[in-house]
Amino acid sequence: MIASPHAASRSRASPVAGQPPSGSPAPMEKLSPPVWPGSLRLAGNGLDRQLPCRVLQSPLAGVSDRIFRNLVRRWAPEALLFTEMVNATSLELGHGRGKVEELALEAGPIGVQLFDHRPEAMAEAARRAEASGAFLIDINMGCPVRKIARKGGGSGLLRDPELAMRIVAAVAGAVRIPVTVKTRLGWCDSSADPVGFALSLQNAGARALTLHGRTREQGFQGQADWAAIALVKRALTIPLIANGDVRSPEEALRCLALTGADGVMVGRGTMGAPWLVGRIDAALRGLPVPPIPDAGQRLALAAEQLEALLEARGEKGLLIARKHLGWTCQGFAGAAELRHGLMRAGTPEATRELLARAADGFGSSRP
Ligand SMILES: Cc1cc2nc3c(=O)[nH]c(=O)nc-3n(C[C@H](O)[C@H](O)[C@H](O)COP(=O)(O)O)c2cc1C
Repeated sequence: MIASPHAASRSRASPVAGQPPSGSPAPMEKLSPPVWPGSLRLAGNGLDRQLPCRVLQSPLAGVSDRIFRNLVRRWAPEALLFTEMVNATSLELGHGRGKVEELALEAGPIGVQLFDHRPEAMAEAARRAEASGAFLIDINMGCPVRKIARKGGGSGLLRDPELAMRIVAAVAGAVRIPVTVKTRLGWCDSSADPVGFALSLQNAGARALTLHGRTREQGFQGQADWAAIALVKRALTIPLIANGDVRSPEEALRCLALTGADGVMVGRGTMGAPWLVGRIDAALRGLPVPPIPDAGQRLALAAEQLEALLEARGEKGLLIARKHLGWTCQGFAGAAELRHGLMRAGTPEATRELLARAADGFGSSRP
């Protein structure tokens, strides 16, 4: 089905996920998709959802804000994107409501990802998110951050399946839209029972599962275990989305072929590469894969993201932008020097100036 995708990605080895080795755009490619199965239906508790795009942008705390999501939608207008994870207790106390209240501004399907260890707080947060226009509610059961897991939220729920199921049941009972769970293979190798845990989530009311093919103990080390994801897929009747180490259209096709999953979710590969979701979507539909923006286009994108962040976040926007600029400005002549300068630029003007000077060398245009 797929002609040696690993060989293909090796031969185009790029310094950054999803980016070409030089400033030149990749040629238009057409990859062989698996048989295109059409839209994915997610059953709700009164309100079902259809997903025409089978590649999802993962929630990325500190990264996938509304400005980043707008860029992803430029290449993938139908894709399901997620908010950064939202703490249900904080929401109850009145903090972080902006992440939910701004859903009205979203230009496409948006899942709200919640985390907490308190079923009632999760149910209340889900009601609030639904009222604000969430496409679905996702429950975080994979976040490895110690402070969160120690309290029993995020990946902490992998160690307390009984509480995990109570949370799913409470949230599923609180809203009409579908409730999904994003989780990992288990807490650690010796205790992991991904099939058993997934079946319990399904029985508790989860309407789809996203599975990152690593344990909590692994963090982001080693390789995501796609074979383990395949075993879970075979056991479930609800849709399963495979996640972990997909950084190109070729890898997405290979992951889907190996796991038999209903869709694929991409995370780190999109950092500095908001075009990745759209490129994978095209590959999955058997359409020509849009080229990776060239260096000039990437610099224009970086400048646009900078301005949007400054407008939305004021001075803090510059700090947030630095992170994104560091990822976007890679893989072209002079990129290392530019990143060095950008990390040290203390004002928006100095940052703009560096980007403009670099863009002069390439000729920039909006992708
Ligand atoms: C910076 C960063 C932030 C993340 N934030 C979240 C989050 O808020 N919620 C979540 O479920 N997973 C989060 N993750 C995990 C990713 O969504 C994803 O599951 C993981 O990176 C594996 O996929 P990938 O190999 O495509 O990156 C985060 C990962 C990174 C690197």
